Amino acid sequence: MGDWTRRIFIERADLFLKIMNEKWIKTEALVDGMIRLLKDFNIESGRILDLCCGNGRVAITFAKKGFRAVGIDFSPMFIEDAKEKARELGVSKRTSFICGDARRLLSLVPKDAFFDVVTSVWTSIGYYSKDEDLSVFKQARKLTRDGGILFIAETVHRDSLNLSFCPSSFTLYENIVLVEERKWDVLTSKLRTTWSFYAKNGDNLRLIDRIMFDIYVYSVSELASMLREAGWETVATYGNLATGQLFSPWTELNLVAKTTNMQHDEKGSGTTQFFKKTERSLKD
Ligand SMILES: C[S@@+](CC[C@H](N)C(=O)[O-])C[C@H]1O[C@@H](n2cnc3c(N)ncnc32)[C@H](O)[C@@H]1O
Repeated sequence: MGDWTRRIFIERADLFLKIMNEKWIKTEALVDGMIRLLKDFNIESGRILDLCCGNGRVAITFAKKGFRAVGIDFSPMFIEDAKEKARELGVSKRTSFICGDARRLLSLVPKDAFFDVVTSVWTSIGYYSKDEDLSVFKQARKLTRDGGILFIAETVHRDSLNLSFCPSSFTLYENIVLVEERKWDVLTSKLRTTWSFYAKNGDNLRLIDRIMFDIYVYSVSELASMLREAGWETVATYGNLATGQLFSPWTELNLVAKTTNMQHDEKGSGTTQFFKKTERSLKD
């Protein structure tokens, strides 16, 4: 898996950028929702690391709200666009955009750069192997201070695809029509999507490019268990961070996790300790 990522995000970044730009409009509400939740963890300002940041909508919006943000993405066109947008929106001094492969996160970010918050937004996982995803979250944990928070937001998850699966759809972006055809494999948990981009001229459509991609879709419990191995304890799940709607199998996934540390790992999670205590008091 993974070869398609270069094709869609680097070689045809021009086409993907049109889709990504449509996401900006809802980003302020998303980030406001995240900031509301961060207050519960006593985080009111600080440093954000935005993994697979695209053209910077999350990092830039956090910066507009007073945070300092570092965005990482391997697409040169997205990173250039993010820098330009940061300049236009007056937050260049509070943002930094690094072009590089998130799988080599520790080599991209100065080792003494400690973050308060890490974000991974809009299904930016499941592109490579599970070990590679695990490694990215382990590296992110190393760069985050104790008590820091991770958001995996606006992400597709297995239950939703098993419950309601839409095999095809089309969307109009300016003068481009995007036709999406999907295949969901319940046995491998892989979502195979073919994107066909057409230029629209009146009633005529001309095929510009066709790109196929495979994403491994995690279940919520599987993702929480992988994060735990990487040093993150899941503390909440939402269907929508902007409205605070709770997660259900029908909603998309927005997961909030907090750092764990070695001592914590050895003793078990807060929830496990709670149950152990309860078991003991029932026996006594
Ligand atoms: C669906 S987009 C999400 C973009 C952004 N998080 C947002 O919400 O607008 C996935 C992003 O992951 C980036 N990406 C994919 N593989 C990557 C890798 N190995 N290292 C860094 N970025 C990667 C792509 O370039 C793309 O911008």
